[in-house]
Amino acid sequence: MFKRNRHGIQIKTPEQLEKMRAAGLVVGRTLELLRRSVEPGITPADLDRIAEKAIRDEGAIPSFKGYQGYPATICASVNHEVVHGIPTDRRPLREGDIISIDCGAILDGWHGDAAITVPVGEVAPELTELMRVTEEAMWRGIAALTVGRHLSDIGYEIERYVRSQGRYGIPREYGGHGIGTEMHMEPWVANHGRPGRGPRFEPGMCFAIEPMVNLGTDRTRVLDDDWTVVTLDGKPSAHFEHSVAVTDNGPWVLTALDGGKARLARLLATAESGGDDVPGDAGL
Ligand code: MF3
Ligand code: CO
Repeated sequence: MFKRNRHGIQIKTPEQLEKMRAAGLVVGRTLELLRRSVEPGITPADLDRIAEKAIRDEGAIPSFKGYQGYPATICASVNHEVVHGIPTDRRPLREGDIISIDCGAILDGWHGDAAITVPVGEVAPELTELMRVTEEAMWRGIAALTVGRHLSDIGYEIERYVRSQGRYGIPREYGGHGIGTEMHMEPWVANHGRPGRGPRFEPGMCFAIEPMVNLGTDRTRVLDDDWTVVTLDGKPSAHFEHSVAVTDNGPWVLTALDGGKARLARLLATAESGGDDVPGDAGL
């Protein structure tokens, strides 16, 4: 039914990538709506209701809801929560918090998955910097998704960038994944490691790239709700994620409204070769 290469990674046709793009845009637009909705006083469950309505209004299905029993449309992870926080009305957001919002949707059988970390009002400078480092690390990882490079180059670029910016923790037990007709597909994508290992990227492969970066230790634990991952030292954590397709013209960021054009132009222009060919929607 679906073409898989010898490593078991699903290969999409150009037509299937257009469907991945449509699903990705539902997620991208939903996250932009949520970004604008974040303010002191709103609850994570409010954001969850906004997200579910936005996704269903586009004719899509929230992919997290019911996934291994997960009860909500988004994951909302506040401050020292790393990922998989369950949205509730228990604690309204406060000025100075940061909130990581992870969102997934299925459109026409194809998945999109992305996450942003957003400040609530004014936040401490070290949190602004934590978010900047995490997001930039994600883009460095994405920029590695060019034909011929290796799977482990993603984690290598992410870790290399984070380490260059200071003493941060990168949790090792969570990472990205292949994505397509399922949310989680082969392969697992580490956020750390050495370059040049694993399968080479081929056009039609799609990956969710999702670094998590902690202000303190890389150690984490899971709360009694069996979902919420928190830092062991209670220090804050940030998380950014995009779903990305490998194309002959470079990475196509399916969950970014501009296909990744603006951020990748800068990164790929400084790369060793082919940097003048800016990928994006016209790139297929
Ligand atoms: N984006 C998350 C991940 O990649 C998905 C959340 S898991 C769920 O792995 F169970 F909440 F859906
Ligand atoms: Co994901």
